[in-house]
Amino acid sequence: MEKIKVNNIELAYARHGRGMPLVLLHGFPLDHHLWDDVVPFLEDTFDLILPDLRGFGESTITETSVTMEDYASDIAGLLDHLGLQKIALAGHSMGGYVALTFIRLYPERVHGFGLIASQIFADTPERREGRYKSAVEVAENGISGVVEAMTPKFTSDERWQSYAREVMNRQPATAYIAALKAMAERPDSTSLFASLKVPVVIIHGLADALIPVERAREAKRALPSAHLIELEGVGHLPMLEATKQTAEGLKKLV
Ligand code: MLT
Repeated sequence: MEKIKVNNIELAYARHGRGMPLVLLHGFPLDHHLWDDVVPFLEDTFDLILPDLRGFGESTITETSVTMEDYASDIAGLLDHLGLQKIALAGHSMGGYVALTFIRLYPERVHGFGLIASQIFADTPERREGRYKSAVEVAENGISGVVEAMTPKFTSDERWQSYAREVMNRQPATAYIAALKAMAERPDSTSLFASLKVPVVIIHGLADALIPVERAREAKRALPSAHLIELEGVGHLPMLEATKQTAEGLKKLV
């Protein structure tokens, strides 16, 4: 992996293929390896840029107070470093929240936009409360409670459950705490999303137990020109559970 210094942290990223730049942002509490399987289906079409968000994977973190704006600013710094002005951008779950923040802050840099198993809404007060409780639980007892609670919700496929568990177990508690708070504090993006003028694709599993497919349908209603791909029998990890269809969906951003 390559590493750069940006915003006082080290940001690590993988890069594969050639073509139009496509930045893919992983979800919580994962890292860029979630994209490994999709790379062979996309590398002939895209210059794929796969960062580890601050604190995750090989990217460092300096403090546990992080905002969606910080994650987005790290990505802007990476693009500056790579000399890339405009990109296609897609995010998985929390990566989608970062992608929405990025397009809000740097609209001129995005010419195609994707949400995978994500949503445009802010947290409900109950969900926000739950995230703060989880952050305290991780600070006091470590990550295992969150890992065990999330694993069965990611997917019903045991193979991908154990892969997700392995990736989650590699991430430090500081990254969990920071991301839980950042997700809790993210704003609602409905009006931003409804105003997007670039090609948009929404990819969502019908069996997603973390973010129900209804959230994706509501996003489509907010922006009827968006292309919605619903995947039968797929949970929260479409890039692993339906790799080829996810790749085909992302190719709509060309
Ligand atoms: C994710 O998969 O990134 C998170 O579960 C999203 C969320 O909790 O809202």
